[in-house]
Amino acid sequence: MAGELAGKVALVTGSGRGLGNVMARKIAAMGANVAVHDISWEETGRFGESANLGEVVTAIEALGVKSVGVTGNIGDRDAVTKMKQDIEAALGPVDILVNCAGGDIGASGNKPLPNNILGIPYEDIVTLTNSNLIGTMNVTQTFVPDMVSRQSGVVVNIGSAAAHMGCSEGGIYATLKAAVVHYTRCLALEVMNDGVRVNAVSPGPAKSARFQATRVVDPKKMHANSPTFDRYADPEEIADAVCFLVGPQARFMHGQVLRVDGGLTLYPG
Ligand SMILES: NC(=O)c1ccc[n+]([C@@H]2O[C@H](COP(=O)([O-])OP(=O)(O)OC[C@H]3O[C@@H](n4cnc5c(N)ncnc54)[C@H](O)[C@@H]3O)[C@@H](O)[C@H]2O)c1
Repeated sequence: MAGELAGKVALVTGSGRGLGNVMARKIAAMGANVAVHDISWEETGRFGESANLGEVVTAIEALGVKSVGVTGNIGDRDAVTKMKQDIEAALGPVDILVNCAGGDIGASGNKPLPNNILGIPYEDIVTLTNSNLIGTMNVTQTFVPDMVSRQSGVVVNIGSAAAHMGCSEGGIYATLKAAVVHYTRCLALEVMNDGVRVNAVSPGPAKSARFQATRVVDPKKMHANSPTFDRYADPEEIADAVCFLVGPQARFMHGQVLRVDGGLTLYPG
């Protein structure tokens, strides 16, 4: 397939559903072969976006590129090593890594309760840390050294608007996403002379199926054609920023975080 990313191989973690799924489809539309990933084959279907990860692979292949579905908990290093083997066997080495898997789902499979800094149960702190920070580190350490060896690669980490402001509710998630943003800068410095570009996108509240299913949404914020930016993002709006950063137009952007949040974090810093 033609396109800016033709011949490249991309991995988008957590792309079985939600924002990652939209990112994977858009990167495929730019011509890359795309590995899609979720914690399990069935978890992809939890909020009704598709039946399972196989259906996601079929949808990507319909865009005219190759795809493979891989599963594993990114907090588990052995699982991530197996993911790499499966992707390389199907598509070859990864050129583009989007670390999107994560979120504020705790040990029970739902949001932690309570979810404030002093009250959140310890097992939820561990789960959130594995899913958001340690998982991002595991995937990075598994895939980026090969990019350094080849002197070529692109990484985009997904932070959150919550990373850029104090939060009591969801404060551990916010803290971990702040760490992901800073990890992006530190990694960018480390690979500065190795041909690997590293950036982050921090989305504001965005209408993924999980987002809508796990809270009482404000109907006033649901309308994409609203004249105000005080609304939820469409997943496409977040994915567009990721596509910019993985593509050639961002060739001189390195170590940056794009806050795609309609101005929610509109202050210096
Ligand atoms: N939707 C929003 O409002 C919003 C805002 C800011 C940041 N984000 C971030 O964007 C990303 C996608 O969020 P979403 O709203 O699409 O949610 P989502 O739950 O639909 O997608 C997250 C995906 O990551 C997977 N995942 C989570 N933990 C994992 C683990 N330990 N191992 C393997 N896979 C794992 C999930 O199964 C799922 O496929 C997350 O990192 C989230 O924190 C979302």
